[in-house]
Amino acid sequence: MAIAENLSALKTRIKSWRQQNEVIAFVPTMGNLHEGHLSLVQKARELADRVVVSIFVNPLQFNDQQDLTNYPRTLNDDVQLLSELDCELIFTPTEEMIYPNGMASLTKVIVPGFDDKLCGKGRPGHFDGVATVVTKLFNMVQPDIAIFGEKDYQQLMLIKKLVADLNLTVDVIGVPTRRQDSGLAMSSRNTLLTQKQLVQAPSLYKTLLATKHAIEEQGETDFSLLCGQAKQQLQEAGLEPEYVDIRRAEDLELANANDKQLRILAAARLGSVRLIDNIACDLA
Ligand code: PAF
Repeated sequence: MAIAENLSALKTRIKSWRQQNEVIAFVPTMGNLHEGHLSLVQKARELADRVVVSIFVNPLQFNDQQDLTNYPRTLNDDVQLLSELDCELIFTPTEEMIYPNGMASLTKVIVPGFDDKLCGKGRPGHFDGVATVVTKLFNMVQPDIAIFGEKDYQQLMLIKKLVADLNLTVDVIGVPTRRQDSGLAMSSRNTLLTQKQLVQAPSLYKTLLATKHAIEEQGETDFSLLCGQAKQQLQEAGLEPEYVDIRRAEDLELANANDKQLRILAAARLGSVRLIDNIACDLA
């Protein structure tokens, strides 16, 4: 496994693989890798000849300076974890390499319809930052396949739209969320939770499951009632809900009783930590 710390090292590798017509899979990350990320790398391994993982904490997607400062950075541990997997290259650019002219007057990629709802509402500019950095990374790595976790379902759908709208030739693949035994979705931010919060946090997933059960098993079609009940359950468990929403899985538009493929999505705060999760709900 090699580490490319700059663009020219990355380009040299990519060029030689391209010349040999090898299939390249790419897993973009912000580091602090956990089992969820490792399952993305495993998926990449199954699908491609060469696997590239990037580690870059992207300042452009943080609307909260404190969140950016607190974001866990564990490069040595990440490299160690990846060295135990079958990954050919880690790309670890600096901020200056990704944004050589700064971010103030940067050309940005905006994905309408996905950027201002759900997580986009509470984090203005976040998805523009994600779309912009992912586009830049795609141009640098030139992958055939890119792998993203379903835990960030809105991000996954936004990137699929971006790729379709801009005619990018990368195949975007989603991988199911990895969970702890408690049901808590694996996330880099979980390391910021206290012992007490780690006991409270799984109620996010439990609430999503209860909502799914009410729709799939009990035939409940009053989605706004269900979302209200879910928020109340979260509050009772000590979380501060930001949103609970039931959406059409394909485009994240508001769902109605005729839609068959739904996604239930939620975000909630536990102290200073913002947790998100989502599950599929299938009525077909
Ligand atoms: O999901 C993440 O870790 C980030 O949003 C991503 C896709 C690496 C872009 O910075």
